[in-house]
Amino acid sequence: MLDRRTLLATGAALMAAPAIAARKSANPNFPKGFYWGAATAPHQVEGNNIASDLWFVENQQPTVFSQPSGDACNSFALWETDLDLVKAMGLNAYRFGIEWARIEPEKGLFSQAMLDHYKAVIDGCHARGLAPIVTFSHFTAPRWFSAQGGWTNPESAQLFARYCDKAMRALGQGIASAITLNEPNILLLLKPMLPPQVWDIQKLTLETAAKRLGVPKYVCANVAGFDDLPALQTGLEAAHKAGKAAIKAVRGDLPVGFSLALMDDQAVGAHSVRDAMRKQLYGNWLEIAKGDDFIGVQNYERALWGDKGRLPAPKGSAVNWSGTEVWAPSLGGAVRFAHEATGVPILVSEHGVGSDDDAVRAKFIPEALAGLKAAIDDGVPVLGYCHWSLLDNFEWIFGYKPKFGLHSVDPVTFARTPKPSAAVYGAIARRNAL
Ligand code: GAL
Repeated sequence: MLDRRTLLATGAALMAAPAIAARKSANPNFPKGFYWGAATAPHQVEGNNIASDLWFVENQQPTVFSQPSGDACNSFALWETDLDLVKAMGLNAYRFGIEWARIEPEKGLFSQAMLDHYKAVIDGCHARGLAPIVTFSHFTAPRWFSAQGGWTNPESAQLFARYCDKAMRALGQGIASAITLNEPNILLLLKPMLPPQVWDIQKLTLETAAKRLGVPKYVCANVAGFDDLPALQTGLEAAHKAGKAAIKAVRGDLPVGFSLALMDDQAVGAHSVRDAMRKQLYGNWLEIAKGDDFIGVQNYERALWGDKGRLPAPKGSAVNWSGTEVWAPSLGGAVRFAHEATGVPILVSEHGVGSDDDAVRAKFIPEALAGLKAAIDDGVPVLGYCHWSLLDNFEWIFGYKPKFGLHSVDPVTFARTPKPSAAVYGAIARRNAL
């Protein structure tokens, strides 16, 4: 759902990128026990997530989705292959999600077979020396849930907590870190960036889905109407709290947090709107994170904020698949801010670049990690780094066009092929040093 990476690409630049201070660290190593991971999300890789809310809207006419997810990477069948790829890279962690729509395909009907499936994935991680970092909801929810208003339904937090409880009882012992919700602020972030037509198409998509199901309101975590946003935020906030409580009730020692879509927001000029914008983009989430064990930082870009709004990227910047600036130091900036604002440890739960040119990624990863290391050297507690993504996958409304993977995937045979950037990243992880 990342039009922020598409829509801000144009325009002439007025300013030069701030220089990155070159620092030499005394200790070249990342902290002991640092998680080096790759990330995926169930709907984006598993395929045939037919009981989910997004599957339904992807297949409506009209729809905001450029294509349906279909088989995705067929990771529901090929999860062992995926874990082998993570291990072969030399990583020690895998961030993936369990799919609520599979575990509870109808309200109150829990599938033991699907819990067993995810138990096998978690055991498979341990067998390969990978710490399972598990997301409980990565945008998707069951179709029945969104057909009852999704996160705008006052009952939603309790429904989410019940699912978290069931999942924890079956899977909790093997989990290394739990992420309740992925980017619950995504629509806050996109709010000032998406043009009205995109909000209109989203609304129309959901109205069509509601009509077909004969329900008054169909709302998803990353596809909603503009007017749904306040109720959506209230629901997601309550859901994080209730989900976390349910997880902690089963395993009090398990680190729990959520992940935040976070830009490296930079103030330009004396009257920059940066701080006001941060309030809008991150809502109450930085405050909420203060009570958590960590905050998941998901950074893909920086934003330059002048006195009237967002400024275009400097002319001549490296760009991603959609023409948006690629600026490696944004990761360090986002991580520093997240810690300053919350006081809790940071887990970089996503970071990456969508590009058909893997040389961009191979250059970007070490540069961004140098900025992350500088933040660690300055005292920011960082638990680990998960690169988005292990595989080229289904990128929400943009379908299969954007390529974020460390591996490409053949859409017919599902064969995975490592890209050169996988070796670059793997070598850093193996050394635990740049
Ligand atoms: C994030 C999202 C991921 C992935 C990534 C790259 O916002 O959590 O699922 O799509 O962006 O676009």
